[in-house]
Amino acid sequence: MSDYAKGLEGVVAGETQMSYINGQQGILEYVGIPIGELSSHSTFEETVFLLWNRRLPKRAELDAFTKDLRSRYQPPAPIIERLRGIPRDAQPMHVLRTLVSELALHDPDPNANDIPSAQSKSLTILAQAPAIVAAFDRVRRGLDPVRPDPSLSFAENFLTMLNDKRPTPTMARAFDICMILHADHGLNNSTFTARVIISTLSDVYSAMTGAIGSLRGPLHGGANEGVMHMLNEIPSLAEVEPYIMGKIQRKEKIMGFGHRVYKAKDPRATDLMTLAEKLANDTGNQDLYAKSSKIEKIMERELAAKGIFPNVDFYSATTYHCIGLKLDLFTPMFALSRLAGWSGHVIEQLSDNRLFRPTVKYTGPHDAPYVPIDRR
Ligand code: ACO
Repeated sequence: MSDYAKGLEGVVAGETQMSYINGQQGILEYVGIPIGELSSHSTFEETVFLLWNRRLPKRAELDAFTKDLRSRYQPPAPIIERLRGIPRDAQPMHVLRTLVSELALHDPDPNANDIPSAQSKSLTILAQAPAIVAAFDRVRRGLDPVRPDPSLSFAENFLTMLNDKRPTPTMARAFDICMILHADHGLNNSTFTARVIISTLSDVYSAMTGAIGSLRGPLHGGANEGVMHMLNEIPSLAEVEPYIMGKIQRKEKIMGFGHRVYKAKDPRATDLMTLAEKLANDTGNQDLYAKSSKIEKIMERELAAKGIFPNVDFYSATTYHCIGLKLDLFTPMFALSRLAGWSGHVIEQLSDNRLFRPTVKYTGPHDAPYVPIDRR
């Protein structure tokens, strides 16, 4: 048997041309462009085009891509109707996972895996997932869903569907930046899940559904909600030090810190920190930002030597809170963006497929007797 790597740590299991990560130096690039350049100058739509086509679009190409995306914003009517029958206390990640799976039932050819079909299904899922999340949030509040508006960008459309009110340009841009920053990240757990599923030549819906299920775990995308719970649990700035030190002494994980790949500060956390500070000042949430900042300083003092730094989830919690999102929508926001990365990886996998089938080290007994049931 070849070397055993628990959790597949360090194992190279595929190839990608989308994101490059240097965990030691804290570098993330999409198709070679540093993430900070994209969050400063690009839009989510342009970033998705970049990831899926491995080049920046010309203006006409971006216009056509955006028009196509917007034309698909509205999910089939039965999908929105279904939301009315879902328990109001259901968790949005479970709702999103279920209804992305259900979109397959409205596709006349859900199994088509040729590249143009897979690209088209990916675009539809990316376009309609925001309406599913926003409509569920409204239905559970006893409100009617707001129809998507194809004249709006991905970010503006989502926030308008959620609040039945156009976001300010600052809020829309902040949300757009969050979408850019979360769009792709190498072979993380949920992306691996998507690639594993499509490698059986299953279908795009199954791959996206499985990836959403993976993302919601607290060790992965669910950590942004964990960060917010933690910030809410700390009553004041003065309590930050004893709270964090208590957790460190009890060897509990601090949500939003640590990463399988980064052993330096996650560059997305740097961008989100700046965004969180600005939004916190604009929305009167300075206390939240101050607590986050203090946690980061304590963690740096205590755990930087171990390579534990803030990850993408840490400052995204404050950012999403300032945008006005409810806590249980934080992880769905991650999913809305990461659908772009998952889809790109599914296309890459389909373009050069080999079934994922690792082996497992057997650690049980051998040659054991079969004992009849009344003698056990
Ligand atoms: N707080 C305190 N200590 C930590 C943390 C943390 N957040 N993360 C890691 N450590 C410590 C571990 O206790 C361990 O210490 P030890 O060597 O004394 O046993 C050491 O650092 C290595 O940690 P592992 O969990 O083995 O590292 P791994 O690479 O497997 O895990 C993970 C990475 C799962 C992200 C981990 O850092 C973690 O649980 N973080 C908190 C959850 C989180 O924020 N997840 C989001 C990750 S980013 C994303 O998915 C989008």
